[in-house]
Amino acid sequence: MKNRLVYMDNGATTPVREEVLEAMLPFLQDQYGNPSSLHTQGREVRRAIDEAREKTACVLGADPAEIFFTSGGTESNNLALRGTARKQASAGHIITSGIEHHAVLEVCHDLENEGHRVTYLPVDRFGRIDPAAVEAAIAPDTFLISIMAANNEVGTLQPILEIGTLAREHGILFHTDAVQVVGQRPVNVNDLPIDYLSLSAHKFNGPKGVGALYKRKGVKITPLYRGGSQERKLRPGTENVPGIIGLGQALELAAAEIPYKMEYLTSLRDQLIEGLLKIEDVILNGHPQERLPGNINVSFKYIEGESILLSLDLQGIAASSGSACSSGSLEPSHVLSAIGLDQQTAHGSIRFSLGRYNNEADIEYVLEKITPIVEKLRQISPLHKTD
Ligand SMILES: Cc1ncc(COP(=O)(O)O)c(C=O)c1O
Repeated sequence: MKNRLVYMDNGATTPVREEVLEAMLPFLQDQYGNPSSLHTQGREVRRAIDEAREKTACVLGADPAEIFFTSGGTESNNLALRGTARKQASAGHIITSGIEHHAVLEVCHDLENEGHRVTYLPVDRFGRIDPAAVEAAIAPDTFLISIMAANNEVGTLQPILEIGTLAREHGILFHTDAVQVVGQRPVNVNDLPIDYLSLSAHKFNGPKGVGALYKRKGVKITPLYRGGSQERKLRPGTENVPGIIGLGQALELAAAEIPYKMEYLTSLRDQLIEGLLKIEDVILNGHPQERLPGNINVSFKYIEGESILLSLDLQGIAASSGSACSSGSLEPSHVLSAIGLDQQTAHGSIRFSLGRYNNEADIEYVLEKITPIVEKLRQISPLHKTD
């Protein structure tokens, strides 16, 4: 009998919704005009891009002129950080955290090599950044603070309202990597003192390889590429038209169901957490309440996360160990290390990330399968005490 498939890796990526695919298809087929062309075909595509921009802006409470389409979260983060740094007259100081996505951390390393100074703030055992630590780190030449809205591995939400407020009070630009939050929780740039925000379509049932950067009006950055005048010269190059249409459609649909989805996923999440914590020597990573609705990150002591993942995979369950990007490497994830897990515990960690297609039967199935898997792996683990 074929195993059922239970996909719980929505933090890595999500399936494209049927309605999104339908909205995209014409732009892969008949509506192939270049949006920069003056003929009817081009103008029609331009109108569709404008509509996607309006939808994106509307969800974020932004002006359409503040939305720039990119190739995803990685590029949006690069554009915000590098673009701001290049605009500075001289080298200065940046504040970020030690648990940011590599698309922020590695850019910061590059900027250090270019002469800027970077403070990597620590987090508490739940993965939270203390706004007081942000304030204490501010120097006279701090020009940018970049703190993620929620962590992709342990799901912890950051106090971005407090941090953004501090940034504004000190006249410092504030960027937030909101890739894990947009489409999952309400985000409105009118209520938040944010200057830049990164988002990515494939995290909210849109296509891969397309995202956006929100940049507040009046904030100046230097583009990463030179070329045409697309995206008001901030991101030149012929647009990924089907991707952009898909992003707009997916975001509009996701935003409309946020209240219901938050409640639904939080309830499924808590059921799974409760069931997993009934297994001996299991700990929950991340904040117990202040976390993404669909994120569950747990450590199974005495066993390797990779072995659990492979056993789960044989039962048709897709989850991840560490973050999707860092799994495959032997180093424990920088996030799990930052919250204070020792190497062994960090290696026994699994992330289940829920999405709109998960249901209670999935939770029951995972709990039914994982208990004997953990028991069996512990029996053969040299690390496990058997007394
Ligand atoms: C917090 C965070 N930032 C950035 C990214 C990168 O986004 P993309 O895959 O669209 O480049 C991810 C993807 O996992 C993420 O979780």
